[in-house]
Amino acid sequence: MNEKDMIQEIQNLKKEKNAVILAHNYQIPEVQDIADIVGDSLKLSQEASKTDAEVIVFAGVHFMAESAKILSPDKRVLLPVYDAGCPMADMVDAKALRMFKDKYPDIPIVCYVNSSAEVKAESDICCTSSNALKIVKSIKADKVLFVPDQNLGSYIKEQVPEKEIILWEGYCITHHRVSGTEVEAAKKNHPDALILVHPECNEEVVKLADFVGSTAQIIDFAKRTEHESFIIGTEMGVLHQLRKDNPDKKFYLISPALTCYNMKKTSLEDIYNALKHDQYEINVEEEISKRALVSLERMLKIS
Ligand code: 13P
Ligand code: SF4
Repeated sequence: MNEKDMIQEIQNLKKEKNAVILAHNYQIPEVQDIADIVGDSLKLSQEASKTDAEVIVFAGVHFMAESAKILSPDKRVLLPVYDAGCPMADMVDAKALRMFKDKYPDIPIVCYVNSSAEVKAESDICCTSSNALKIVKSIKADKVLFVPDQNLGSYIKEQVPEKEIILWEGYCITHHRVSGTEVEAAKKNHPDALILVHPECNEEVVKLADFVGSTAQIIDFAKRTEHESFIIGTEMGVLHQLRKDNPDKKFYLISPALTCYNMKKTSLEDIYNALKHDQYEINVEEEISKRALVSLERMLKIS
């Protein structure tokens, strides 16, 4: 099937099955363009919780589809590529959190949505990169455990000195590997450009940035500022929307290493197969799902 026919078939199947396609900002351009909604983790969770569709095709990684299923347990949630995962989400597990809670029962746990349903179930509240500051500030305790992203955690820690934030040692393999030296080199090549980075980048990169935010916040910032050139410190998938929104502005990726292999696994054909064969259905064990829902709903209420 050629691309044009495949796009038409996807549209037909979507209608026939009453499906909605949600895609993260890191997906390949063709997948972003076929999606009904493209956004950051927060927006996609909000949309998953309120959609009328019977089927949600989640073009993203496993924890995102799992969160959609927890938020909409009566819908069929499909992850087009069964092994599209997030290495950072695998850096913390429920057993480790239970051990922590046995030792420190009074310390609330904030978990980044990039985590498994089991981890969400053991946590007090979830957050995304766009609302982490608000969520941590909302907690009525002096000490907080933040899992699993040490970089997002330390970025928040800087802004909430009144709390002791204990950091887990997880990190995003894509963002963490960018160095301050690479940012400085990009700035030397493009001295007039503003540096926009994701808080999953390490501390030395975040310190050099002019703006730090989630994928959607970066896209929004570039659109509303009058500046004409930007150095981008997040996964290269955002360049698609940035260039679509701002055809006259220039965007330079800090490093080609800002490519998340898992986010790039989903093709148009995978979306077609997902709809055609109802694959791969995501389910979450009921007891875990109910407890994880509490953490997700607390987040959505504050966001
Ligand atoms: P958001 O900024 O869209 O929340 O993305 C974070 C991320 O790394 C998704 O994997
Ligand atoms: Fe996970 Fe990083 Fe890929 Fe996001 S970019 S899915 S945090 S590995």
